[in-house]
Amino acid sequence: MITFESASEAETEMLASRLAQSLEPDTVVALVGHLGAGKTRLVRAIAEALGVDRQAIASPTFVLVHEYAGRLPIYHFDVYRLKNAADFLALGADEYFTSGGVCLIEWADRVESFLPADHLRIELAATGETTRRIQFTATGPRSSAILQRLQVK
Ligand SMILES: Nc1ncnc2c1ncn2[C@@H]1O[C@H](COP(=O)(O)OP(=O)(O)O)[C@@H](O)[C@H]1O
Ligand SMILES: [Mg+2]
Repeated sequence: MITFESASEAETEMLASRLAQSLEPDTVVALVGHLGAGKTRLVRAIAEALGVDRQAIASPTFVLVHEYAGRLPIYHFDVYRLKNAADFLALGADEYFTSGGVCLIEWADRVESFLPADHLRIELAATGETTRRIQFTATGPRSSAILQRLQVK
C-alpha cells in the first residue's frame, strides 16, 4: 500500500498525471471514499493527463458509464445510484474491463464482488478543507506493477 498526503488540488492533479502515465490497457481502478473526498476530481485529472479535453468530462451521476477518448479509452463509472450491485454486471460492466481501456469506478466498494480480482484500489479521505489522504492498494500482479511504476516516477 502507498499513501500520499495531498495538500492541495494541484498536488492531487500532479499525482493523477503520474498515475496516468503508469496505467495500461485493461486497468480497473476502484475509487472509494465519501461524498466530496475527491473521486471525480481525481478521475478528471487522470482523463486530462491522458489527453481528454476538460470540457468533455462530466459527472456521471445519472448514467452508469461515460466514455472519453484519450491516449487510452477511459470508462468512467459511478455506481452510487445502482439499486442492486448485480445490475453492474447486468449492464455489461465486465465487457469494459477487457476492452483495452482504463476503467475508473466511483463508489467501487458497492460493487466490490463484481470487480476483477486484480484491480487498483484508491481510497480517498478528506483530512481538511483542501487536504486529502490518497491510499493506493494493489490486489494482484498487474496492479502491483502499476504501483511500482508510480513509485519510481
Ligand atoms: N487536495 C484536494 N484534492 C482533491 N480535491 C480537493 C482537494 N482539496 C479540495 N478538493 C475539492 O474537493 C471536492 C471533491 O469533490 P468530488 O471530486 O466531486 O468528490 P467525490 O467524487 O469523491 O464525491 C472538489 O470540490 C475539489 O475541488
Ligand atoms: Mg463523484
